[in-house]
Amino acid sequence: MSLYAIGDLHLSSSVNKPMDVFGSAWENYTSRIIEGFSTLGENDTTVLCGDLSWGMDLAQSLDDFKLIDSFPGKKIILKGNHDYWWNTVSKMKGFFESNGITSIDFLNNNCFEYGESAAVCGTRGWFYEEETGSEHDKKIMNRELMRLEASLKAAGEREKYVFLHYPPKFGSYACVEILELFRKYGVKCCCAGHIHGKSLKYVFEGEYDGVYHKMVSADYVSFQPQLILGSA
Ligand SMILES: [Fe+2]
Repeated sequence: MSLYAIGDLHLSSSVNKPMDVFGSAWENYTSRIIEGFSTLGENDTTVLCGDLSWGMDLAQSLDDFKLIDSFPGKKIILKGNHDYWWNTVSKMKGFFESNGITSIDFLNNNCFEYGESAAVCGTRGWFYEEETGSEHDKKIMNRELMRLEASLKAAGEREKYVFLHYPPKFGSYACVEILELFRKYGVKCCCAGHIHGKSLKYVFEGEYDGVYHKMVSADYVSFQPQLILGSA
């Protein structure tokens, strides 16, 4: 039983949005994702850190959900900035149920207990800097902070592993509000995605203020889910 993470699958089974136009790193990416997941087992859990499907609504993303559902083990998903199909959790759960999708659950104001003592927490996150951010950005940031705090609170005394779409530490940027919540709740590790291509050179990985930061966007990790907890 192990915990894995990968972000930004950007699947496009029903939408003509092939990612290989963004360069050779994305060539045959769907088959590479399928191959990447093939090494996992039914007792494993994978957190998908947003930007799952290019579909514009649930129906358009159905084939992508079916593909994700076919991967071994349990999948926990959170919202990315391109997940236009995202809806209320009750609508998404109803849609999955009526389409026989059984292995995907949602990280949204909640947490998932993992093993004896760990918890999977998270939300989408946001890029926000007080000096340059607009009022609109501030509003989104505050909502994301509330979601993250609800998730961290729900984890109680468990060891907290946080999964976001937007990295809170990237290049010279640090999202002080999110990092403050990490400190307050004693977060152990933070995985994020969203960053691709040339921007990957600004990725921050390693320990920052007592939290281990890891980038799991699909092209950064060669489309292979990354082991976070447990053994491969
Ligand atoms: Fe993104």
